Amino acid sequence: MSRAASASNRHGDLRNLLSIADLGPDIAAGIDEVMTLADSFVEVSERANPKVPALRGRTVVSLFFEDSTRTRLSFETAAKRLSADVMNFSVNTSSVKKGESLRDTIETIEAMGVDAIVVRHASAGVPRQIAQWATSAVINAGDGWHEHPTQALLDCYTIRQRLGDLAGRHIAIVGDIKHSRVARSNIAAFTALGAEVTVVAPPTLLPPSLEGWPVKVSHDLDAVLPTVDVCYLLRMQRERMHEALIPSLREYTALFGLTEARASKLADHALIMHPGPMNRGVEIAAQVADHPNAVIIDQVRNGVAVRMAVLFLLLGSGTAWGGDLDA
Ligand code: NCD
Repeated sequence: MSRAASASNRHGDLRNLLSIADLGPDIAAGIDEVMTLADSFVEVSERANPKVPALRGRTVVSLFFEDSTRTRLSFETAAKRLSADVMNFSVNTSSVKKGESLRDTIETIEAMGVDAIVVRHASAGVPRQIAQWATSAVINAGDGWHEHPTQALLDCYTIRQRLGDLAGRHIAIVGDIKHSRVARSNIAAFTALGAEVTVVAPPTLLPPSLEGWPVKVSHDLDAVLPTVDVCYLLRMQRERMHEALIPSLREYTALFGLTEARASKLADHALIMHPGPMNRGVEIAAQVADHPNAVIIDQVRNGVAVRMAVLFLLLGSGTAWGGDLDA
């Protein structure tokens, strides 16, 4: 309702960010645009007063129907650093608990005058449905197994920061691919930037069909590790498993956990990544999470600047602030 002039960027009218494909027909160019903006917001984040007036007068609401630590805090920090007002909708203490429908909830929130809705939900497709009802910009902060586009953007940013261009790099994504929205968004983003992706998992943790996925598949982590530039580990999404897909966590760790012995097979420059939350001792050994090549904390740090870039792309045009970071 109070959504200001829709943002116009080089890749057309980016109204919402629901999936990596929304970044435009040329996904790589869309990602580059976010990365370039994020560079300036990293610079802002390093200042003693890390704040710019870019989104003064705009309101961002975070609507999380699923648990989150870093994504929620990261979006809220990003919005505040852009001087937006932030509304925090806590599902557990809201009228959703009294049976209010999703549509009524969205209408109520919009009636208060918001410009962007950041939404996380356990069901795939909910952010797209909300985008059809809402006039504000909708950002997908993770929907079921489907997508988590800002996670992929911050991962691309972190890899580029450490290793430069992703083109020609080999990235292994290891673990519960089947239930991972992070894997789906990352595969789309990494391959759009020219990286080669191998998914490494037991057959039961892969989707029933990988047709159309631009990836190689391996069940042998030990064989893949020496060939990669990035080893990206995933948490076992037990909240999305309704049957026993692995014999035991101990067996999973024995075959697919990044133990210290396995980490020593990585090339000297290879990065160890994880979207968090980590289950130390399961998919990643405690010591490996603190390895000098582990960039897990950089991922979190970069997440704020990358989300500032996304919020600015969606809401920034039409603001009085013209992009001068010293304003
Ligand atoms: C991920 C998520 O929620 O999809 N976490 C995150 O956003 N950093 C991955 C996970 O929960 O394992």
